Amino acid sequence: MYRIGQQEIDELSKVIESRQLFRAGNADNGHQQQVVRFEHEWGETVGRKYSLCLSGGGTAALICGLVGMGIGPGDEVLVPAYTWMATALAVLAVGAIPVLVDIDESLSIDPLDIERKTTPQTKAVIPVHMTGRPADLQRITDFARLHKMFVLEDCSQADGGSYRGRRVGSWGEAGAFSFNDYKIMTCGEGGALVTDDRTIYERALVYHDAGTAFRPYGQDLSVPIFLGQQYRASELMGAVLRAQLQRLDGILSDLRRMRRAFHEQLADSGLRFAPSNDPEGDCGVLVAFQFDDEKSARAFASAQGVEGGLPIDSDKHVYTNWTPILEKNIGHHPAVNPYNYAQNQNLRTHLDHETCARTLDILRRNVYVSMNPDWTNEQLDARIACCRNAAK
Ligand SMILES: Cc1ncc(COP(=O)(O)O)c(C=O)c1O
Repeated sequence: MYRIGQQEIDELSKVIESRQLFRAGNADNGHQQQVVRFEHEWGETVGRKYSLCLSGGGTAALICGLVGMGIGPGDEVLVPAYTWMATALAVLAVGAIPVLVDIDESLSIDPLDIERKTTPQTKAVIPVHMTGRPADLQRITDFARLHKMFVLEDCSQADGGSYRGRRVGSWGEAGAFSFNDYKIMTCGEGGALVTDDRTIYERALVYHDAGTAFRPYGQDLSVPIFLGQQYRASELMGAVLRAQLQRLDGILSDLRRMRRAFHEQLADSGLRFAPSNDPEGDCGVLVAFQFDDEKSARAFASAQGVEGGLPIDSDKHVYTNWTPILEKNIGHHPAVNPYNYAQNQNLRTHLDHETCARTLDILRRNVYVSMNPDWTNEQLDARIACCRNAAK
C-alpha cells in the first residue's frame, strides 16, 4: 500500500451511513452504487467496455477471465515461470493445465518461448506484467491472434501501467487486476476483470455470483446462467477503490519520477539496467539492475544502503517454489485434480526444477531496488548515492 487516508474514510462513512453494504441496490433508496461506479470508472481508466469488480482478488479475476473464455479440461494455458503462483493456480482451478514459459532479460514472459511452447492444445497465454514492468504485448498479441489463442493479461502487479501508450489490460482479450494490500491500488483484498468482449464479460459475471439469476444484472444476459462461485465485491470495497483510483495517477507519476532519477543519475555509473519493453509505461515500482553472475548481484544487493533484493529469492513468485503444483497436489479431491485426467488427453503435465532453467539464471543475475513515491529529494539522492558507491 502506498497511500491511504481521509478520502477513503469519507467514502467508507457514506456507505456505512447508507446501511447498504451489498452491491445490488436501488439508488432511490440511498444506495451508494459504489461497486457499479467503480466498475464504470475502472473500465474507463483502462480503456475497456466492461469491468467486473471481484472480492476474490487477482486470483478471482484470472479465474473469471478463463471461465469467460470458455477454457477448461483438455486445454493448455501458457504461464510464465516467474509470477505469483496464483497465475498457474487459476488455470488449474478451471481444470486446464498450465505450461511454463521462460522469461527473457526484460524479466517478463519471452515471446520466442511462447512460440516454441504453443501446440494445438494451447488455448490461451497469460503474460504477467511483473513488478509493474510491461510484457512485450505487441509481439504476444500478434502471435496469439495468428494462432487463435486468447491473451489474458495478468496486471495484478501493474495497476494503471501502460504499454505503447495504452494501459495494460487493454491489449489482450481480457485483463486481470489485483487490489490486495501489496498492490499499487488497494482495498486490502480485491480485484477486477476488464474486457471488450460481451460474452467473456457475461460468463465472468455469471461465474462471480452463484445468485446471478436473482440479481438485477442477471436479467438481460445473452449467455445461459450456470452455477458459479461467490466473488461478489461489497460496497465497502467499492468505496475504498473509488478513493484509491483518485490517487492512482499521482502514485504512478511519483514512482516513475523516482525510477527515472535512478536511470538518469546512474547512467554513467557502470551499472546496467535490465531492458524494458516500455520504459515510459513501466509503473516505476522498482529499478532492476542486471549483473553477469549471482555473486556480483548479491554483493551489490547487500552493499551499504542499497537495500536490494534478488528476484530468485522472491519465494512463490519462482516456479521452483510452487510446491503444491510441482507435487501435483491440486484440489480437495482426486476427481477434481486436472493432472489426474490430463494424462488421457495427451497434455504436457511434466514439471520439475529444470523446466525453465533460463528463468532461474536470469532471476539470479538481477537486483531489484524498490521505489517509494513519497521519498524526499534528499532521500532519493541518498539512495542513488549508495547505488553509485556500491557500483565501485
Ligand atoms: C502476478 C500476480 N498474479 C496474481 C495475483 C493474485 O492476486 P490476489 O492475491 O489479489 O488474488 C498476484 C498477487 O499477489 C500477483 O502478484
